[in-house]
Amino acid sequence: MDPAARPAVVIDNGSGYTKMGFAGNVEPCYIVPTVVALNESFLNPARTSSKAGWLAQHNAGVMADLDFFIGDEALERSRSSTTYNLSYPVRQGQVENWDSMERFWQQCIFNYLRCDPEDHYFLLTESPLTAPESREYTGEIMFETFNVPGLYIAVNSVLALAAGYTTSKCEMTGVVVDVGDGATHVVPVAEGYVIGSSIKSVPIAGKDVTLFVQQLMRERGENVPPEDSFDVARKVKEMYCYTSSDIVKEFNKHDKEPSKYIKQWRGIKPKTGAPYSCDIGYERFLGPEVFFNPEIYSNDFTTPLPAVIDKCIQSSPIDTRRSLYKNIVLSGGSTMFKDFHRRLQRDIKKIVDARLLASEARVGGELKSQPVEVNVVSHPIQRFAVWFGGSVLASTPEFYAACHTKEEYEEYGASICRTNPVFKGMY
Ligand SMILES: Nc1ncnc2c1ncn2[C@@H]1O[C@H](COP(=O)(O)OP(=O)(O)OP(=O)(O)O)[C@@H](O)[C@H]1O
Ligand SMILES: [Mg+2]
Repeated sequence: MDPAARPAVVIDNGSGYTKMGFAGNVEPCYIVPTVVALNESFLNPARTSSKAGWLAQHNAGVMADLDFFIGDEALERSRSSTTYNLSYPVRQGQVENWDSMERFWQQCIFNYLRCDPEDHYFLLTESPLTAPESREYTGEIMFETFNVPGLYIAVNSVLALAAGYTTSKCEMTGVVVDVGDGATHVVPVAEGYVIGSSIKSVPIAGKDVTLFVQQLMRERGENVPPEDSFDVARKVKEMYCYTSSDIVKEFNKHDKEPSKYIKQWRGIKPKTGAPYSCDIGYERFLGPEVFFNPEIYSNDFTTPLPAVIDKCIQSSPIDTRRSLYKNIVLSGGSTMFKDFHRRLQRDIKKIVDARLLASEARVGGELKSQPVEVNVVSHPIQRFAVWFGGSVLASTPEFYAACHTKEEYEEYGASICRTNPVFKGMY
């Protein structure tokens, strides 16, 4: 059967989680932590020059190729045995360890999706700041190790826009605010093309919110076993944190009615098996506040996210600005906090209105400017909007035509993977 007649494999490798599945589906088949557990004892065998030693080393290499785990299973292994070391192949949206990345893909394909890579076209994602060399490495691994018939590497923000959930018609001009685990990017896109010079990055993302929640709970002296405290903080964040409209008011609300706002966390100590419980207090709203008042968490980066988004749009070509303000699309797990989009919309609108007023005052109130529509779009699937956009695009016939094929790779080499053309369906 022609691979182009089969659904393409869509994999979005995030710094925190990998979303994988088949094009045409609404949800990824699996969402697993992007982590590999390697059995290090195989990787560092004692060096000897004897034949037996060589054989042992060779076998160790073979075993190392087989004895590794990914995702939750990897985390589980490293917890229960000291022979497994964890490796996180993607950091801040960039692949940092290609060996681990290859192993990770191997398990995604054969153990999770359980498909033959020679039978499917592949759509992979990259951050808007990925270097072209990295695309070449990805191409080499995909075509040479896995023998895929076709490959397309898409910019994750473009896919988030392509998710097209803003209107019934897919709108390919907008600003994507992608807040994942390791990186936050604000990416303007016009007609499917990323406006590269206006991309803004913020060094605060989901992992920082977790660290901040962990710190707040620790400082209050909550009774969480230290070996579990990061994981508990992450769960507390995902289940109980919300965006407030004003932190001073929120502190007052908590103080007036603690029973309504303070939640309880119940867990089991991993070492002794004894149950414990602790309070969840101000961190419920202080966690997400790091995006709006970053100085409460970091001394180095203090620009609030709404101001970064405004700067991004202001640095884009003037004729695109109104359309960009109108379609600010959220993507990534860390935009899931309750009311995140409302706060963002309100704060951006404040900045825009203040600028309009100031410019009107400058010309003496003679000229009345048209109000600027600010629209932050939120949707339940924004947690995997990138994957979903990939799933939609990879089910169009144009996708197969836009892919680099194995034949092209063999004829021209890995450099063809450096560019991945925008295709119909993206605009
Ligand atoms: N309901 C939720 N509320 C708040 N945060 C959440 C929620 N669900 C997941 N997250 C957080 O979202 C982050 C993962 O998001 P996502 O899968 O978009 O990141 P990623 O793609 O792995 O990372 P990146 O895009 O930075 O490379 C984690 O920090 C996770 O704790
Ligand atoms: Mg991501």
